Amino acid sequence: MIFLKTDEEIEKMRESNRLLGMAYGEVAKAIAPGVTTGQLDQLAHDFICDHGGYPSCLGFEGYPCSLCTSVNEQVVHGIPSKDVVLKDGDIVSVDGCVLLNGFHADSAYTFPVGEVSEEKMRLMRVTKECLYLGIEQAVTGHRLGDIGFAIQHHAEQNGYSVCREFVGHGIGREMHEDPEVLNYGRRGNGIVLKSGMTLAIEPMILMGRRNVVIEEDGWTCRTTDRKPAAHYELSVCVRNGKADILSTFEYIEQVLKERFI
Ligand code: MF3
Ligand code: CO
Repeated sequence: MIFLKTDEEIEKMRESNRLLGMAYGEVAKAIAPGVTTGQLDQLAHDFICDHGGYPSCLGFEGYPCSLCTSVNEQVVHGIPSKDVVLKDGDIVSVDGCVLLNGFHADSAYTFPVGEVSEEKMRLMRVTKECLYLGIEQAVTGHRLGDIGFAIQHHAEQNGYSVCREFVGHGIGREMHEDPEVLNYGRRGNGIVLKSGMTLAIEPMILMGRRNVVIEEDGWTCRTTDRKPAAHYELSVCVRNGKADILSTFEYIEQVLKERFI
């Protein structure tokens, strides 16, 4: 069942996404060699709670933290820990959700830690491009497969592969709603997109082969070949002509700009 959102509901979702974006701004300030992913989780948790939201990954199907922090070959659902110390040259995907006024926000961003290799920077850039190319397809009258095709095409054109075990999703009063938003697919396939559909689009792109395994913690997904992965996610609303992006990287990118000039 796909729930189309009213304009009023869309504004609530924009608010919850703004809070998540602001929390990521704080995470962006903190990320540096020597910092633990457990510290990032604590900081995001406290920021979200202090602003009246709930970090809705916490407790979701038993998940123990507020963020997922996936380092290098970890693709998604890495569990923050005081024992995971970020080091120079790492990349870390930070993924989390916020529940505010009855609506969930969901977005993710992969950050460089210190000085990162050209090849990892390129993986991050192309993965973010995949996300925006997918979002360009999230318009009324297009089909779900158009999103997946755009993402897969750009990833593979650049010599990367797409993780198929995890997918984007509808979002709203529930963190995961219909439909599933695959990061691969065929143009013209799948349901027709309608104005008011809200989708979390989240390409997980791998530098090497597309095979992944789940670690013994039952959550952490990593590449089998241990080559790095990147992951970006934005929640959007399907509209005529142009999707309305509800999440924001604005706070993150402001901080990164100030820190790296
Ligand atoms: N933010 C994740 C998503 O994109 C949520 C994963 S569920 C968790 O769907 F429990 F691992 F947090
Ligand atoms: Co998601």
